[in-house]
Amino acid sequence: MRILIVGSGGREHALAWKIAQSPRVEKIFVTPGNDGLAEVAEPVTIKAGGIEDLADWAEKNRIDFTVVGPEVPLALGIADAFARRGLPLFGPSRAAARLEASKVFAKEIMAKYGVPTAPFRVFDNADAAKEYIRSRKDPLVIKADGLAAGKGVILPSSVAEAEAAIDQLMEEKIYGDAGNRVVIEERLSGEEVSLLTVTDGKTILPLLAAQDHKRIGEGDQGPNTGGMGAYAPASILTPELLATATARILEPVIQAMNKEGHPYTGVLYAGLMLTKNGPEVVEFNVRFGDPETQVILPLLETDLVEVISAVLAGNLAGVSLSWRQGAAACVVLASGGYPGSYKTGQEITGLEEAAGLEDLLVFHAGTERKEGAWRTSGGRVLNLVGIGATLPEALDKAYRGAELIRFSGCYYRRDIGWRELQRLQGGAQ
Ligand code: AMP
Ligand code: GLY
Repeated sequence: MRILIVGSGGREHALAWKIAQSPRVEKIFVTPGNDGLAEVAEPVTIKAGGIEDLADWAEKNRIDFTVVGPEVPLALGIADAFARRGLPLFGPSRAAARLEASKVFAKEIMAKYGVPTAPFRVFDNADAAKEYIRSRKDPLVIKADGLAAGKGVILPSSVAEAEAAIDQLMEEKIYGDAGNRVVIEERLSGEEVSLLTVTDGKTILPLLAAQDHKRIGEGDQGPNTGGMGAYAPASILTPELLATATARILEPVIQAMNKEGHPYTGVLYAGLMLTKNGPEVVEFNVRFGDPETQVILPLLETDLVEVISAVLAGNLAGVSLSWRQGAAACVVLASGGYPGSYKTGQEITGLEEAAGLEDLLVFHAGTERKEGAWRTSGGRVLNLVGIGATLPEALDKAYRGAELIRFSGCYYRRDIGWRELQRLQGGAQ
C-alpha cells in the first residue's frame, strides 16, 4: 500500500513510524512533513497545499489511503474533497469535524443527547455575554466557538478578566471569526484524561487512556503550550470509569452524529474531566492527540494499517486491539522562550547517541537538516518516548535520551507523569 500522512509534527512522525511496521505498506509519504521524518516517510511539498491540491496529488500518486494529523484540513473538508473522488481518507467529514471546529455545535449535541458536560450558554453579542458574566458568582470558562490553535479557551480569575476576554474575542477579534460566538460554561474540577477512540461510525474501539501536560512549567504551572509531554496508560481512568465514559459519552456521541445525519468516522478524542459526578466532556478533538499519540501508538501491538483499513471498509466490528504491557512516556524538548518567542536554527547534537538507546523512540516535531547538521525549526523540537515495564522505567529511558541531546536554549519539564507517579507511590504504601 502507498499511504499519505498529512501534517508535520511529532504526532505525524509517530503515525508514520507505526504505519511503517505494517507488512502491507510499500511506501509512506508525508506532507509537508519534516526532515526528521524522512527515515520512515518521504516528505513531499504539494504546491499550494489546499485540500484539492492534496486530492490531486493523492490521485496522481495512487495513494491507497490518507491519514490526517491536524484538525484544520478536516475542518476545511479534506475528507469530503477526497470522498468526491473516491479516495479513501481516515478522518471525519467537514460536518462531523464540527465536534472540534465549533464548540457551540459540540455543546449543543451534548446537551441534546444528554452527554455529561459543563452547563453552558452561547452568546453572539458581547454586551449580553458581559451582562451574563456579571450575573454569575461562580468560576466560568470562556471559549471561542471556532478553531484558535488551542488558544481560544480562557479561565478568567475575575469578572474583569472575563469581560476583557469577551472584548478580545468578540470585539477585537483576536482569533478572527472564531470569536463571532462564544460559549460560557461552568468550571469543572477534577483530573483530566484523554480518551481516544477509533470508530467506523458503528463500532467504537477505545485506545489506552493517556494524560498530557499542556502547561509550560513544572507542577502544571504557567502558560498553555501545544503539549510538553504525556504518558499512557493513565490508571486514573479505571476499567469502571472507561466503561462509564464509553456508555455515557463515546457511544451516545457516535450515535448522535448518525442521527443528525453526519456519521463520524476516524478517531475521536474526548478530553474528559473526572469530576466527583463521573467523567464529563471538556472538549472533543476530531483527530489524534499530540503528544498523546506518541505514547499510545508505541504500546499498540495491532497493525494500525489493519485498523484503518477496517474503518475505511466499515467493518471495525471484526477488529480487536491488543496492547503491550507496560507504559510509555513522552518528554518534549522545546526551544527556550516557547510558547512565547524563541530562536530557531540552533544546532542539535546527540541524536545519534539517543537513537542508539534501547526502548527509546525519537520523534521529530520541529527540526531540519541544514548544512550537514540537525537544527531546531520550531517551538517544540523533539519528542523523546521511553517504553518500559512501568511508568518510572519509561520515564527513566525518556530522560536518559533527553540528557544526551543538546541545543542552545533546550528546555524540558522534568516532572512528566507526576500525577501517575504519586498514585503509584500511594498504592505502594
Ligand atoms: P479545550 O481547548 O476546550 O480543551 O480547553 C483547554 C483546557 O481548558 C482544558 O484542557 C481544561 O484544562 C480547561 N477547561 C476547558 N473547559 C473547562 C471547564 N469547563 N472546566 C474546567 N476546565 C476547563
Ligand atoms: N494534546 C492535546 C491535543 O492534541 O489537542
